[in-house]
Amino acid sequence: MPLDLDLLRARLPRRQIVWRDRVGSTMTEASGLAARGCASGTLVAAEEQTAGQGRHGRPWHSERGAGLYVSQVLRFALRPDDLPAVTLALGLAAAEAIARISGLACDLRWPNDVLIGEKKCAGILVTQSAEALITGIGINVNQTAFPVELADLATSLRLAAGRTHSREELLVALVESSERHLQLLAENGRQPLLEMFHGASSYARGKRVVVEQGGASLRGVTDGLDASGFLVVRLEDGGRSTVRSGGVRPA
Ligand code: BTN
Repeated sequence: MPLDLDLLRARLPRRQIVWRDRVGSTMTEASGLAARGCASGTLVAAEEQTAGQGRHGRPWHSERGAGLYVSQVLRFALRPDDLPAVTLALGLAAAEAIARISGLACDLRWPNDVLIGEKKCAGILVTQSAEALITGIGINVNQTAFPVELADLATSLRLAAGRTHSREELLVALVESSERHLQLLAENGRQPLLEMFHGASSYARGKRVVVEQGGASLRGVTDGLDASGFLVVRLEDGGRSTVRSGGVRPA
């Protein structure tokens, strides 16, 4: 069923909502709107993405009508050091929205993977463009299957809960939860969010992981986030490494 835009506009009356049937990526659309001076909080959502973007240049599988594919243009005074924490805030927000709508408990894998068990159900992408932040969130909602290369890595709320979910209700919950978490960051700084992330993520501390960074990989046990929101890993040789970017997976 196509997304009910009237319902969405009624539930989010103060938001500018741009709805596209089919786009390359909502990130590109949102960057274009930001460059043309759109209001902060503008949402761009699509029924289908033909070139959905994931982190590190990876594609984001965006099956028509099955998931939530949404970008948001945000203009607020952000301390430059807060950028990594924005990703963490949105991961927490996505997990909270999913729990509210589906009852499913999610795990968070630093920095931006939202997991059910060990499988990913949502991902976050944050970029800067035209003096605005462009945040992108993809949630696997009603998919019943994934392409073979993703089958062991991805899940949907429907597969995990055994029932379909309203994408409209989930999007409203996501917008409200994102607003609350970003407001917490803007008003109270990073510390409360970092504590929340530590509480919500089994990956933050004591998890044996492999971190892929470019061509290299490092192995160790996670030891919390530093004050900026970067992941600290205790290495096998006794040293410690602060991971600023890269893909984390269980060892
Ligand atoms: C990741 O985990 O790799 C990030 C995935 C982000 C996907 C979303 S879907 C909406 C927005 N548009 C995109 O092209 N990407 C983000």
